[in-house]
Amino acid sequence: MSQIKSKDRVRDLAEVYTNEREVKAMLDLIPLKKEDDIITYKYLEPACGNGNFLIEILRRKLKRVNEKYAAKSMREYEFYHARALTTIYGIDICKENVAEAIERLYREVKSNIDLHKGSFFYSEGFFPLVHYILTNNIVVGDSINHADRIEFIEYLVKGKSFERRIFNFASLVDPKPLPVKTLPPENFLVIGQKYQIETDCDDELGQTSLKLGQAEFELNG
Ligand SMILES: C[S@@+](CC[C@H](N)C(=O)[O-])C[C@H]1O[C@@H](n2cnc3c(N)ncnc32)[C@H](O)[C@@H]1O
Repeated sequence: MSQIKSKDRVRDLAEVYTNEREVKAMLDLIPLKKEDDIITYKYLEPACGNGNFLIEILRRKLKRVNEKYAAKSMREYEFYHARALTTIYGIDICKENVAEAIERLYREVKSNIDLHKGSFFYSEGFFPLVHYILTNNIVVGDSINHADRIEFIEYLVKGKSFERRIFNFASLVDPKPLPVKTLPPENFLVIGQKYQIETDCDDELGQTSLKLGQAEFELNG
């Protein structure tokens, strides 16, 4: 894949994509204390482009999820996909890049589950949950000048439920940031089922059904 889309975009966005070899080499530099940490460690890419780092991070997380949970029940396996996804965050100023990144990660999750479990047994609410996590974690925003306009959700695990704590991105430099809101623990699939009812999103993620989270953020406002 070319590392640039156009000269105008290089000028306006400094958009030069990193190739896969360099992405892998850079991620190899991040130390893990133990193998399982890859699933739960949080990664944030503040200028994520169309997701070259995010997709490789997801692949590494899912590799471990496959090793540990592919032989377990579908729910268990799905839960750890969700768990892995909740720890991947991205910001980009360009809406088109964010949409592309979300779509790539969505398709990666889907093909990984199809490969290991087949496509007939997804739990109700699982793919809407994937959609919900991706659109809240990978957002349009200006990470340099308007960090205060970006919100992120931290997902705390309670059994098979997530307690969601919403933080302003700018506050995360504080030693003890306070959430702007906390949502009580809710079963992971129930979060997806409710989201599907609220948004009417499809299980199949098409460009048209993509909800961009903070995409309507006014970049110049
Ligand atoms: C050099 S590219 C890198 C993309 C990706 N990280 C990669 O390595 O393939 C820089 C990216 O930063 C984004 N960008 C530029 N200014 C930004 C800002 N202030 N906040 C967030 N993203 C920004 C651009 O849209 C572009 O996608």
